[in-house]
Amino acid sequence: MTIERTFSMIKPDATERNLSGDINSMIEHAGFKIIAQKKIRITLEQAQKFYDVHKEKPFYNDLCNFISSGPVVIQVLEKENAISDYRKLMGATNPEQAEAGTIRKKYAISIDQNSIHGSDGIETAQREISFFFSDIEIVG
Ligand code: CDP
Ligand code: MG
Repeated sequence: MTIERTFSMIKPDATERNLSGDINSMIEHAGFKIIAQKKIRITLEQAQKFYDVHKEKPFYNDLCNFISSGPVVIQVLEKENAISDYRKLMGATNPEQAEAGTIRKKYAISIDQNSIHGSDGIETAQREISFFFSDIEIVG
């Protein structure tokens, strides 16, 4: 097991419902350290670039519009095995398939308004952290 960092984003449906604190509580109780965090508004252009891996998918436009529709909380999380452990804590993309005890099971509204994003691999985590946190030194 190695200490890893992963990128997390609390999506607009969750900030709108004042769930950032509750979600952070789940994150911290699961053993993650929130080593960087900011609340921002993502522009449509940033959303398109951030999600460009999905640009051929039918949900791409709606996804980019949604992510830029309200404030988000972006975070860097640190823990042993952070990347795959955070995917487990998030739960399945579709909350109907998410397991009990996961963030999406508890809070997601639907497959598109699913409250939380987390990196899906080591390279994605590095890309996503530097996409949003290149301007600050993360001290941990
Ligand atoms: O977020 P996750 O990695 O679990 O799923 P993804 O397959 O990478 O898709 C990225 C995001 O696109 C999802 O979290 C959903 O918000 C959205 N999506 C959607 O709106 N409809 C789908 N059929 C699949 C994904
Ligand atoms: Mg993904």
